[in-house]
Amino acid sequence: MEGEFLETPEIVFETAEKAPSGAFSSSSAKHSLQELYTFWIFFQKISKGLAERVPARSSLASGLPQKEFLSFLVVVWVKSGGNATIVNMKKIVIGNWKMNPATLLEARKIFSKVKKTASSCKKVHTVICPPFLYLSDLASKSSKESLALGAQDTSSLESVGSYTGFLSPLMVKNIGAQYVIIGHSERRREGETDEMINKKILASLSIGLKVIFCVGEKERGHDGHFLEFVKQQIHLGLQGVSKKSLQNVLIAYEPVWAIGAENAILPRDLHQMKIYIRKVLSEFFGPSAVVKVPVIYGGTVNPENVELLLLAGEVDGFLVGRASLNPKDFSAILEVANASK
Ligand code: 13P
Repeated sequence: MEGEFLETPEIVFETAEKAPSGAFSSSSAKHSLQELYTFWIFFQKISKGLAERVPARSSLASGLPQKEFLSFLVVVWVKSGGNATIVNMKKIVIGNWKMNPATLLEARKIFSKVKKTASSCKKVHTVICPPFLYLSDLASKSSKESLALGAQDTSSLESVGSYTGFLSPLMVKNIGAQYVIIGHSERRREGETDEMINKKILASLSIGLKVIFCVGEKERGHDGHFLEFVKQQIHLGLQGVSKKSLQNVLIAYEPVWAIGAENAILPRDLHQMKIYIRKVLSEFFGPSAVVKVPVIYGGTVNPENVELLLLAGEVDGFLVGRASLNPKDFSAILEVANASK
């Protein structure tokens, strides 16, 4: 396991310009057009002298003249079957309100303030996951384009039936939610198993919901065991998910020790984990999954740390807890995500 992680080079960039995030994630010869395009843009920037110093291992491109490098990209893409399309992924910022706030009135207030910022942040896909109870009311005020809704959980039973206290993915969808959080550590803590999570994921995907699948270790030792732990969670949670449905899955990496904590993960550790998760997905589903599945981060994200987590962590967005209940803080997070490249 440790050896496996070591295949991913340690990435420390001291320049303002960073290498593309896909650059190290795949040892496969099969590159997506997205990755190649990113390489190309990066190479152009280097050649224009935007980067002061390029670490020796950081780019395939560093030694090649532009024309040759472009030909190289085309050759690799054609070899790969040319089966990928350019995806310009918006950042995704999700507010998980958990068991808050206490009244519908408060929920409406927070929601309408967030909606204002969300509608001006065109480069961000904003989602709010309120308690079930407020979903139908807020659904009438949500907007598919700027502010979508999600549930915080669902049952593994797709539609309707004699199941007291359960809420099905179909009900969640019919009420106007597009997303559902599954496998949050606060539900795992209450006894939810990987098997239950897998069933919920399959049921939700079959109904057409987008799944925010939470994974993350309880603690980090020096033996690298947490990597195997996260890999297992992904493996068990996504068993039976087709490549096609994978497009409706987001991985929310939420290390348990960083949730409700004082400090978030270090951006460098987040970057490594993002690459690792893409590598794991790539092993399970093939390289094309790497570009299709957004990897977002959750755990003490706030206006102070969001920029660094985004730039150096290179995640595709965030799952925000406490700060999502404060419209000022959440708006600040949205604006930082909106301003990012
Ligand atoms: P905090 O942002 O409050 O740490 O919560 C993170 C979380 O659990 C989001 O799902």
